[in-house]
Amino acid sequence: MGEMPNLNTPETILTGITTTGTPHIGNYVGAIRPAIEASRQAEARSFYFLADYHALVKCHDPGVLRQSTLEVAAAWLALGLDTNRSIFYRQTDIPEIPELTWILTCMTAKGLMNRAHAYKAAVQENETLKAKDPDKGINMGLFCYPVLMAADILMFKASKVPVGKDQIQHLEMARDIAMRFNHTYGATFVLPEAVTSDSTAVLQGLDGRKMSKSYNNTIPLFLPAKRLRKLIMKIKTNSQGPDEPKDPHTCTLFQIYQAFATPEEVAEMRHRYAEGIAWGEMKQLLFAYLDQHLQTPRERYAELVQNPERIEKILIEGAAKARAFSRPFLADIRKAIGVQAVG
Ligand code: TRP
Repeated sequence: MGEMPNLNTPETILTGITTTGTPHIGNYVGAIRPAIEASRQAEARSFYFLADYHALVKCHDPGVLRQSTLEVAAAWLALGLDTNRSIFYRQTDIPEIPELTWILTCMTAKGLMNRAHAYKAAVQENETLKAKDPDKGINMGLFCYPVLMAADILMFKASKVPVGKDQIQHLEMARDIAMRFNHTYGATFVLPEAVTSDSTAVLQGLDGRKMSKSYNNTIPLFLPAKRLRKLIMKIKTNSQGPDEPKDPHTCTLFQIYQAFATPEEVAEMRHRYAEGIAWGEMKQLLFAYLDQHLQTPRERYAELVQNPERIEKILIEGAAKARAFSRPFLADIRKAIGVQAVG
């Protein structure tokens, strides 16, 4: 037990993007760009999908959910996801996923879910607030979130799953659930592995903490130039004066620049820091650089958001390609568990 069953599948990369909020440069550097680069690798099969069922756990406003899905899809397409090489779809267009979710739910120990970080954090928060019920405000979607995620992954026999470090536990759970299924019903699922990016891929936000929607410190990717400039001017710096040599490593401005610039440009900027570039000048430089580099994707993004039917067409095509895998595989799974025609 515990070994990867030999299922003769090619290397398969898969990742989900929760459709909440407007994509920001932290998402780009940490998730979107590495995924797009991976999608260009010729050898691997890749699946990228909008995890709108996952978004539903927290978002109960239909207008917001719809808009987020549109914006996230537009962002990935505008930034260059190659939908000929990778399969790009919306989770809710694949009915095999919720079906597999239930099957896997019956293979999942409740105790395993009790240990999930996100659920534990929610309980902890209730305890801190001295709520009468430690499960106050927690829906079953949050509790079962890792099972749905396991279904997303196992459905397409993913071998490599690029995710943030906060998702490693979910990958371990997916493996756990897959092993239990394989042990019970025979080798069926590929055991997936998490692929996490190095720490440089975590960007700091306006206030110096990790850039995150929950801290409200993000720089959205597709702001008009004027608003982009305003936000960059707001980035927190230390009180060093102009001409003082500055440390690039702790500096949010440098980090963001580094995430977009070429190695030569970064080396040159490091030199400017040593010479003591003034914060005002650096902010102006960073704005000009980002503004220029985001111009083309920004235009594409605006065009896509104004023509949602184009996005829809791409997603529908993606779903058809994805279902070419999920439909026959689910039929095998149903057979394996004994859900099939009786005569
Ligand atoms: N939970 C992931 C996140 O918040 C998103 C996600 C849903 C996902 N399903 C997935 C990621 C399957 C990888 C594979 O980032």
